[in-house]
Amino acid sequence: MRTNIADIVGKEGQEVEVFGWVHARRDHGKLIFIDLRDRSGVAQVVFGPKVAGASDLRLEYVVKVTGMVNKRPENMVNDKIPTGKHEIFASGLEIINTSETTPMPLDTDGYEINEEVRLKYRYLDLRRERLAHNLAFRHETISFVRNFLNEHGFLEIETPNLTRSTPEGARDYLVPSRIQNGDFYALPQSPQQYKQLLMVAGIEKYFQVARCFRDEDTRGDRQPEFTQLDMEMSFVEEEDVLALNEELLIALVKKVAPTKKIQEVPFPRLTYKEAMEKYHSDKPDLRTDKNDPNLLAFCWVIDFPFFEKTDEGGWTFTHNPFSAPKPEFMDDLLAKKNIENILTTQYDVAMNGMEIGGGSIRNHKPAALEAVFEIMGFEKERIHRNFGHMLEALGFGAPPHGGIAWGLDRLISLLRNEPNIREVIAFPKTGDGRDPMMGSPASVDQKQLDELGLEIKKKPEKK
Ligand code: AMO
Repeated sequence: MRTNIADIVGKEGQEVEVFGWVHARRDHGKLIFIDLRDRSGVAQVVFGPKVAGASDLRLEYVVKVTGMVNKRPENMVNDKIPTGKHEIFASGLEIINTSETTPMPLDTDGYEINEEVRLKYRYLDLRRERLAHNLAFRHETISFVRNFLNEHGFLEIETPNLTRSTPEGARDYLVPSRIQNGDFYALPQSPQQYKQLLMVAGIEKYFQVARCFRDEDTRGDRQPEFTQLDMEMSFVEEEDVLALNEELLIALVKKVAPTKKIQEVPFPRLTYKEAMEKYHSDKPDLRTDKNDPNLLAFCWVIDFPFFEKTDEGGWTFTHNPFSAPKPEFMDDLLAKKNIENILTTQYDVAMNGMEIGGGSIRNHKPAALEAVFEIMGFEKERIHRNFGHMLEALGFGAPPHGGIAWGLDRLISLLRNEPNIREVIAFPKTGDGRDPMMGSPASVDQKQLDELGLEIKKKPEKK
């Protein structure tokens, strides 16, 4: 029966069978030492001359080793690894698979390696301890959040990835339809409309670990495809959403990152105006000691202006067209006056200078949502073509509702002290939106284009 490598510490004097990858090897002639790695950890294996095949071992070979767990002599103890007081003295070896020489070292933290190589061989990059830990941490985070929301009566519901183009500030990824030739789906920038429709449906408390797609330029904190923890609740006010999310964030940090210290609880709240005046940022970094990697300074930024001027002199929303104004500005919104001063219920949560989430209370009456689009200068016909389904739904007894979405990749990267969200995503894209491993995006066969009724005008030269 297989023993996980980390568990050999409890099996001193026993015969074990371990499986894993050759992580390091040292040939001392009569004795050959390898570090054997599985997901649980690394341990030293010693081969004497009696075991055949040990001299054939190379890095990243997959092997089965049978042997005795021994205590290492005091002067050979390795404090750097949890199994360092023990080693396995091999009696049997089976080489299960060989490995080519890897195109990069896997026993370093990897920051020093060219990203193109790391992403082309991501399945090797992920063998690196740091990245393996990041993925495990991500799993723990999501599991904790799932359990917490489940205990608080939320239902986890999936919403479609093939949907229609929505105005959420970024460009949509479009997917051509074969059956409805000439028409396009859009990949969702967020599940915003669906989650509101779930509130109309009477779900009351929804969440989803949701994939979102935005065709924008990639940066350290931005990927074309990223993950939100998305939630929505009925019969709530701003205060309820903030309180629940604050409780969840505090509990999460305590559980998954106990060495981190939250600077201030309850999280400080700043109005947008205060944040801009004092910190010239709507996601201020409030850390009192910016050199402390374990300090987390959360804050809420509230009371954002609803609208801002466009370059053409009209109005556009600052955050989310579906947001409700602060209650005291509802009359102004409906009358479409005093527009520059209308404040929205939008709230953002920032941590150490990064926006990690945002949400709002929504307009649950059709007239208010319609007024938002009218202020933005949309013609009646366009409003009904693009948002008729939302206006119609709100007309069927939509409950008051509101929610929030966290940028999970951002939160996780900060909790792991990673400089870039790519370090906590299993298969991220490069800065210019490519996946060098799969070779995407890629051209498609003429037959596929014909079926979709598409013609490529002119393919630009590859840079
Ligand atoms: P918003 O657009 O603010 O709100 O997105 C919520 C959070 O998602 C993260 N985020 C990103 N993370 C990585 N890459 C990106 N390209 C990216 N874009 C955004 C940020 C951000 O705070 N539907 C609303 C939420 C709501 O109102 O409930 C929404 O999507 O951390």
